[in-house]
Amino acid sequence: NLPGLPTLTGRSPIVIGHRGSSGTRPEHTLEAYRVAIEAGADFIEPDLVVTKDGVLVARHEPVMVILDKDGKVTEATTDVATRPEFAGRVKTKNLDGQDVTGYWVEDFTLPELKTLRAVERLPALRGRTFDGQFEVPTLSEIIALIRDTETRTGRRVGIYPETKHPTFMAAQAGVNTSQLLIDTLKKEGFTDPARVFIQSFETTNLRDLNSTIMPAAGVKLPLVQLLGGQTGAPYDLSARKDPRQNADLTTPAGLRDIATYASGIGPSKGWIIDGKGQTTDFVTRAHAAGLLVHPYTFRNEPTFLPAQYANNPEAEMRQAIQAGVDGLFTDFPATGAKVVAEY
Ligand code: G3P
Ligand code: CA
Repeated sequence: NLPGLPTLTGRSPIVIGHRGSSGTRPEHTLEAYRVAIEAGADFIEPDLVVTKDGVLVARHEPVMVILDKDGKVTEATTDVATRPEFAGRVKTKNLDGQDVTGYWVEDFTLPELKTLRAVERLPALRGRTFDGQFEVPTLSEIIALIRDTETRTGRRVGIYPETKHPTFMAAQAGVNTSQLLIDTLKKEGFTDPARVFIQSFETTNLRDLNSTIMPAAGVKLPLVQLLGGQTGAPYDLSARKDPRQNADLTTPAGLRDIATYASGIGPSKGWIIDGKGQTTDFVTRAHAAGLLVHPYTFRNEPTFLPAQYANNPEAEMRQAIQAGVDGLFTDFPATGAKVVAEY
């Protein structure tokens, strides 16, 4: 630890392998998580959605292939669109206020999903496909991988699951993702609060975890409130509103309110570094409310931050660390571990 490092606790920032080492392997595969652990990630991050038969699996979104109005694939994380036996599964659903057409995880049983193979979501950007090599993993398989790697290498990492669209998933699959997450972590015996953070954009979901679901299960794990704006211009992003209070989450009162149910906040990095490349006072404000700050997403790829950061995540990471962040979500955990080791 660097004496005086302005993290909340004074400890070094943690490196979170975002969707695994998703910059170098197809996101949310055991291979991506294995590489992240071996690259030096402290935590690996699965986004979690629910299958038709009620199992938590790792996918970035409930929709695993998006089709345009002509039926052409515009984004894919599995090869399902190439499988004639599943052609009748295409559905249009309203997700976050938008009609999206494609193949949805909650319409497939786990045995069906296991016949699919993960593909690179950004083949044009990353110049690769990896088609046919990797399966969609369950949460239980990811925990088994963490244990396995610990036995083999001695590296003891944690897990940082995100409950993806829990309100949507409950309506679609009839399952409370957060309840299923706690049940699965308990079943797998993975409930050490030093090795789990649970994150969500949905405030109500986190409040329920804190007030009801975790106490009933006899489990207490740190929660992280995500704050959006990733695709907008930095620093003039509109704050996520708490659907129950309609309150701005980033005011001093809003941050203090988050601290009543969560241990930290996961903001888009645009809250930390503004449109002119200046460090904002966001970390200081969040720390004043007692919240850890874990911004996302640092990657070796074009960024919405000013030009000096394009393809230079190390500069972004150093600036965020000097601002006092307590962790970094990165698609390139090898880069994250290297930069954190400088401090
Ligand atoms: O969980 C942090 C970050 O991943 C949130 O955005 O859309 O990449 O899951 P997203
Ligand atoms: Ca995520």
